[in-house]
Amino acid sequence: SRKRQVDETLAPFKLSQEQLQLVKATMRAGLEAGLKNKGPSAVKMLPSYVYHTPDGTEHGKYLALDLGGTNFRAMLVKFKKGLQNNTRLYHKIYTVPLEIMQGTGEELFDHLAQYVSDFLDYMGMKKAHLPAGFTFSFPCEQTAIDTGILVSWTKGFKATDCEGHDVVNLLREAIKRRNYDLDIVAVVNDTVGTMMSCAYEDPQCEVGLIAGTGSNACYMEELKNIEKIRQKKQKTEGDEETPETSRMCINTEWGGLGDDGSLDDIITPFDAEVDHNSVNPGKQRFEKLTSGMYLGEIVREVLLDLTRGGLLFRGRVTETLKTPGIFQTKYLSQIESDRLALLQVRSILQHLGLDSTCDDSIIVKEVCGAVSRRAAELCGAGMAAVVDKIRENRGLDHLNVTVGVDGALYKLHPHFSGILQETTRVLAPQCNVTFLPSEEGSGKGAALITAVASRCSAQKE
Ligand code: BG6
Ligand code: GLC
Repeated sequence: SRKRQVDETLAPFKLSQEQLQLVKATMRAGLEAGLKNKGPSAVKMLPSYVYHTPDGTEHGKYLALDLGGTNFRAMLVKFKKGLQNNTRLYHKIYTVPLEIMQGTGEELFDHLAQYVSDFLDYMGMKKAHLPAGFTFSFPCEQTAIDTGILVSWTKGFKATDCEGHDVVNLLREAIKRRNYDLDIVAVVNDTVGTMMSCAYEDPQCEVGLIAGTGSNACYMEELKNIEKIRQKKQKTEGDEETPETSRMCINTEWGGLGDDGSLDDIITPFDAEVDHNSVNPGKQRFEKLTSGMYLGEIVREVLLDLTRGGLLFRGRVTETLKTPGIFQTKYLSQIESDRLALLQVRSILQHLGLDSTCDDSIIVKEVCGAVSRRAAELCGAGMAAVVDKIRENRGLDHLNVTVGVDGALYKLHPHFSGILQETTRVLAPQCNVTFLPSEEGSGKGAALITAVASRCSAQKE
C-alpha cells in the first residue's frame, strides 16, 4: 500500500536509541580528537580566548557587529555595573544579498563597512570611537581575542580571498577605504556570543548552541585539556595558571562531524544528494543533517523520490519541486504546526506552487516530521556528549548546566526544541540541562566580551 511504501522511504530517518548513543560517542571522540594538536580534525575545536563568562561588573558603551546566517546586525549596547536588567540596546538589521555572499571578499567587507557606517550615522556616533565586538559566524583560527583567520566558509557563503585571512583585518581595511575609524577589540563566534549573552542573566550558562541556518556549539573547557593552548603557554615562562584562568571557551564547530566518514552509517541517499548539490560537498556533514539551511532540501529530495515513485502529487514532478530552497525553515515550521488543519497545510503547499490532495498533505507533513525529528535528536546526541564531557572534566556525578540557544530552527519550529531537550535528557541522565533562548542575539555577548577585553587592554597600558 501507499502508506507502507512511504513508511519504507522514511525508515532510514528513524534512529534507534542505540544509534543515537553511537552518535553521542562519535561526537565525544570528535571533541577529544579536536583538542589534540595533531593537525586538522573533523571537529575543529577552536580556542576563543574567552576565559570567563560575565560577572556583572561590565560597564560602558559598545558597538556590536553581527554577521549571522543571512543578516548583518549592528547594535549599540550599554552596560551598567550590577544592573543586568538595564542593558540598553539600539540596533539595525541589514540583509546581505546572495551575490555579495558569493562575490569577492573585498565587496563583502566593503558592504559590511557600509552598513556600519550607515548605523553610526543613524545613531549620530561617527566620531564617538566606541570599542567594537565582531560576531562572525564562521570557523576562525584565533591566536588572540582580536584576530581570527577564516578556516573555511560554511552555510551559503563563498566570497573569494577570505579563507586564510584575518577577518578583523579585512573589516579594518574596508573601514579605512571608507575613511572612518573603528576600534575592533574582539572577534567572536555566534555560539560564544550567545553563551556570553545568556550567561549575563544566568551564571550557570557555560554552553552556547546555535540551531539556525547552521548548527554549532561552544562550551567552557579546562585549559589543561586544550593542547594547542597548553603548548603555547609552556613557552611563556612564569605564567602561573590561577584558578580564575583555568578554562577557555571552545568553539567546537561540531557541524564538521562526519567529514571523515564517521557518520556514514546514518547518512541516507537523500542526505548524500543534498550534500552533493551544496556549495561545499563532503564538508559539514553533521550540519547538513541538523540545520535549517538543509532540512528543507532533504524534505524536497524525499518528496521528489516519492513523486517519481508515483506516491505523491499524482506522480507529476513539477518545476517547483525541482527548485532548490523552496522549503525554508519558516514553511517547515508552519507545516508541522499542530494547530494547522490539513487544509491549511494544503494552502501553504499551494502558496509554494505545489498542488496537493488531502492525502498528499498528510504525507508531506510526515516527511517534514521525520526529517526535523532526526535533526533534533542528532543535535540532542551532540549536546549530551558536550555536557557529559563538562561533567567528567569536573569529576562530578551530577552536573547542573544551562545552554544559551539561538537560531530560527530552535525558536520557530514547533517541535525541534522539545525533542532536543528530551533527547539530551535521555542520553545524558547525569546532567540537568536547562535551555535558555537568547534574547537579543549574540551581539550583546560580543559586546560583553569587548567590555572585558577593553578593560584588560586599558590595564595593560
Ligand atoms: C542571531 C544571532 O540571533 O541568531 C546570530 O545574533 C546567529 O549571531 C543567528 O548567527 C543564528 O540564527 P539563524 O537562524 O539566523 O541562523
Ligand atoms: C556554521 C559555522 C559556525 C556557526 C554555525 C551557526 O556551522 O561554521 O561557525 O557557529 O554555522 O551559525
